[in-house]
Amino acid sequence: MKNVAVVGSQWGDEGKGKIVDWLSSEADIVVRFQGGHNAGHTLVIEGITYKLRLLPSGIVRKNKISIIGNGVVVDPWALLDEIDEIKSKGVTVSPKNLIISESANLILPFHKEMDEIREDAAGNAKIGTTRRGIGPAYEDKVGRRSIRVMDLVSEENLDHRLEIVLLHHNAIRKGLGKKVYKKDKLKKDLLKIAPEILKYSKPVWKKIDEFKSQNKKILFEGAQGVLLDVDHGTYPFVTSSNTVASSAATGSGCGPNSINYVLGITKAYTTRVGEGPFPTELKDEIGEELGTKGKEFGTVTHRKRRCGWFDGVLVRQTIKISGINGIALTKLDVLDDLDYVKMCVAYELDGNKIDYLPAAVDDQLKVKPVYKTFEGWKTSTKGIKNFKDLPDNAKKYIRELEQFIETKVSSISTSPERNDTILIEDPFKIN
Ligand code: IMP
Repeated sequence: MKNVAVVGSQWGDEGKGKIVDWLSSEADIVVRFQGGHNAGHTLVIEGITYKLRLLPSGIVRKNKISIIGNGVVVDPWALLDEIDEIKSKGVTVSPKNLIISESANLILPFHKEMDEIREDAAGNAKIGTTRRGIGPAYEDKVGRRSIRVMDLVSEENLDHRLEIVLLHHNAIRKGLGKKVYKKDKLKKDLLKIAPEILKYSKPVWKKIDEFKSQNKKILFEGAQGVLLDVDHGTYPFVTSSNTVASSAATGSGCGPNSINYVLGITKAYTTRVGEGPFPTELKDEIGEELGTKGKEFGTVTHRKRRCGWFDGVLVRQTIKISGINGIALTKLDVLDDLDYVKMCVAYELDGNKIDYLPAAVDDQLKVKPVYKTFEGWKTSTKGIKNFKDLPDNAKKYIRELEQFIETKVSSISTSPERNDTILIEDPFKIN
């Protein structure tokens, strides 16, 4: 049995949607284990585009079970809207194919407001969040005052839990000169949708254990990327969850030995949305070209993504931190027209050469990339399905990249189309 975890190896938006879709066609179960509706995965299946935010990618396929694990923060209204949207495209969503952990923490309207209040007040220090309430919801989780899916079962319990969480939020809101948040209306609104949410609620750890004993293939679908991990990313310019592969175990309730292969989705260049350090960022016409050719606009917030050269130092680091066994290299075709392609192979910090990204944000902002330059291939790679058919210069770039990051390139994506992929090894079929 092989279970696969997929994570982004950069700052998110590596093109996980296409790869996860391909892998979810092989899997029986697809599990989201962290993040919330800050994620945006676009799938194109038989000409229909599905934009998923919270629902696992397995949902659009027949005979798959999709699971939202305990590590995910769930905005119940956003979830119900997404379910309605996907149903309107002919997809069936029922408790037979969707399970939500009873322990998942809820994102409530005051979390979203707090996210916005703080971002607006932060000026230059803003994080550039998706303003979905993700950070404030995770704060309440670790602060032990959160409302979880299971709290929707009893009105009395919900009332008590809301008292606790609002005591905290209203103290802050008053301090910031904002109106206090009223409990009764929120309670009423939550009780109204409770049956719709609770019908999907189950002990996810137990279901996963059952699926494992039935030898089902499980795909753990990560959101964002390792550089946005709250422990290992470019803190404080990160999201509020652990985006590394080991989080698949805690975020769904199975041991680390339930994950047999970790696939890191890696863009052939680098992008980032929101604020924060980005050593290889290009603020010139090449950066613009990458953005235009790569259609680098956010799925969730439609913000323009910052673009830059491939950063081998960073990807090598995230591979080690996340235990990535192989990478799926995406968007190679975006580099097709360039005269030359650069890869960052070291940094210079205060006159010294270093081979990793230091943890202090001031150092991260100061490092200067040391590049290796490759001749461009100036030929279309779009749609190529065999490695041998790639132009020689593209092969050279990929082979050197592979050597530098000390990890195998297990597939190469040559267009957004599902079949335009060079498959070197299938993570579900490795012994
Ligand atoms: P938050 O997750 O909304 O709190 O945002 C924190 C940081 O993570 C911001 O820089 C966001 O732009 C970034 N971020 C959150 N979700 C995604 C994603 O799915 N792709 C890329 N960046 C993301």
